Amino acid sequence: MKDFKDKVLVVTGAGSGIGSAIAKEGALRGMKVVLNDIDSEGVNRTLEEIKKMGGEGVTQCADISLLENVQALYDLTMNTYGRVDILVNNAGVSVSGPVWEIPIQDIRWITEVNLLSHTYGMNVFLPKMIEQGTEAAVVNVASTAGVMISPNAVMYHATKFADIAQTESTSLALKARGINNIQMHALCPAFVQTTIHESDKHRPERYADLSDDYYKSQEFKAGYIRSARQVLGGIPIDSVGLTVFTALEDNKFYIWTHPESIIPASQRLGNMVNGRNPA
Ligand SMILES: NC(=O)c1ccc[n+]([C@@H]2O[C@H](COP(=O)([O-])OP(=O)(O)OC[C@H]3O[C@@H](n4cnc5c(N)ncnc54)[C@H](O)[C@@H]3O)[C@@H](O)[C@H]2O)c1
Repeated sequence: MKDFKDKVLVVTGAGSGIGSAIAKEGALRGMKVVLNDIDSEGVNRTLEEIKKMGGEGVTQCADISLLENVQALYDLTMNTYGRVDILVNNAGVSVSGPVWEIPIQDIRWITEVNLLSHTYGMNVFLPKMIEQGTEAAVVNVASTAGVMISPNAVMYHATKFADIAQTESTSLALKARGINNIQMHALCPAFVQTTIHESDKHRPERYADLSDDYYKSQEFKAGYIRSARQVLGGIPIDSVGLTVFTALEDNKFYIWTHPESIIPASQRLGNMVNGRNPA
């Protein structure tokens, strides 16, 4: 995809970090933006910044992990612009800890945001992209955590591996049916300086009860500190929007913010191929 001017870009979780950066890069290229976030202040701030750049768009403040809100985002897009050219399923949260300790509500929360909201996005928006028949793209924001493993964020890895799998499989499913106007992409960032370690601030109501003793545990506190150190030690956000749009232009399925991320990924595959256990 080379031409972005006057096309329509939909971004979930656009109130900060990577989603906001992609939205602004799209606006720089003349795209109209439809921005979602559960954080109304954040998403309105992103749109204000875009307007100052001379761009235009609309916002939806809603929990995108609920199917009805994905449907409402689609309706907003159609009612405002009547088409969709690029969908970026970016909303994501961070949950650390071993699967036998973290509360079930956290397992549901991270699965619904990191995986199912992206699934719903494809389910709801792809039929329109197929019907339009014009060049279109879907970017699912996964992670290098979707191609490698570590001991401290089991559900984060699980959701990101699944997100990459659904993106790869959808790409094949489109091609197998002769649908060639839609590019699929998996963005696999390593650490980027955002606010992902503060995800707890954006818990939906149904998962906001923190009375479980786990939230007072050393494991929980250590998870926060580890996550903050990793994220704040990452690369600045500045280059990420450009990285994504360059990959859209070049139709590169896998988008890396850190090209060296492929090394731990290939080590994991090497273990599989050579009959070794996970390490
Ligand atoms: N920052 C990193 O180091 C890094 C690395 C790999 C992958 N990622 C992925 O990048 C994506 C964006 O994260 P980020 O780093 O920009 O973090 P961020 O916290 O700065 O941005 C995430 C945005 O998603 C929003 N959000 C959370 N739950 C939501 C919901 N239910 N509905 C709608 N919006 C919701 C938040 O309010 C926030 O504005 C995530 O999918 C994350 O997993 C980030």
